[in-house]
Amino acid sequence: MTVSESIKYVGVNDHEIDLFEGQFEVPLGMAYNSYVILDEKIAVMDTVDRRFGEEWLKNLRSVLGGRAPDYLVVQHMEPDHSSNILLFREAFPEAVIVSSDKAFVMMKNFFGIEKDDKCLVVKEGDVLCLGQHELQFIAAPMVHWPEVIVTYERSEKLLFSADGFGKFGANDVEDPEGWACEARRYYFGIVGKYGAQVQNLLKKASALEIKTICPLHGPVLKEELGYYLELYNTWSSYGVESEGIVVAYTSVYGNTARAAALLAQELESRGCPEVELLDLARTDIYEDVEDAFRYGTLVLATTTYNGDIFPFMKQFILHLTERGYRNRKIAFIENGSWAPQAKSIMKKMLENCKNLSFAENSVTIMSGVSEKNLEEIKALADELMKG
Ligand code: FEO
Repeated sequence: MTVSESIKYVGVNDHEIDLFEGQFEVPLGMAYNSYVILDEKIAVMDTVDRRFGEEWLKNLRSVLGGRAPDYLVVQHMEPDHSSNILLFREAFPEAVIVSSDKAFVMMKNFFGIEKDDKCLVVKEGDVLCLGQHELQFIAAPMVHWPEVIVTYERSEKLLFSADGFGKFGANDVEDPEGWACEARRYYFGIVGKYGAQVQNLLKKASALEIKTICPLHGPVLKEELGYYLELYNTWSSYGVESEGIVVAYTSVYGNTARAAALLAQELESRGCPEVELLDLARTDIYEDVEDAFRYGTLVLATTTYNGDIFPFMKQFILHLTERGYRNRKIAFIENGSWAPQAKSIMKKMLENCKNLSFAENSVTIMSGVSEKNLEEIKALADELMKG
């Protein structure tokens, strides 16, 4: 990837990883980005994942032309970016590490690095001059760790955005679904809880003229930046991105699945622009989470189970509530062969979510889908299509 004449990409692509951060499936691999700014002084922006230290150093040396870097800017201490700070120090002992105060505490805790005269603490508004290039540091606390800084390069109007605007997927394979799908799954999976903090950062960014965004994962963004910024604004404000309805279900013997599928058919026959029918036991939970945040209406269909609800549904609702799920319409389908309780349990799990409205109609199945249930499903479809 090229960034500009004097800013070089030195990141790596990971096709060995099975689960990113121990839980996210990444069928297209993962990229750990790092950049070098060549000027009178040379700054390296972040390192890469532990397993790629030597490859990264090789990339780095290939653009340095025999010079040594003056600075390593550490924007984020999560180990997928910080794991090679010690390797960098061994290779370039004269370079100064530039980071936030909180990051230096983490550097000691993760790697035993003591703050010394080769460490420079920066805070909001500080500027580091490299020659023609000037790095302006912007605090981005809890996007999505507390120590995070992002960096605006003034001469080329370029934002080094840390994890912001990142996506799943290596940079050397084309993503058949474009940028937004895996960027959305990344955002809601990893950053989603911190919408207010992302909004704060977007507010600061809106005061800057930005021509290029250089994230720590995924491609460098140069064209139509308004598209990416607008999506981030929608996601971080918990807004509705797409018209449509999500029907998320679990099923033990297929009866709840049948009711969910019947509702989906009724919605489609009434002209619903998009119906996402999700079997929570058989789909990637983070694909399901991103859909719940993408659309404005969510139907939850599950069974009463062990005096509670089916585990995949319980886990799904927890994923939503811990990420601040809000501003949506919710409807329920419950099933219980002798004492259905799923609806009231699901509603209770959602009680602390802000600005949810609940459909008046619901469906209660006593084992198999009855004639009465078919009428309830139609009534629910009518209500949901009214908005
Ligand atoms: Fe890409 Fe929060 O680490």
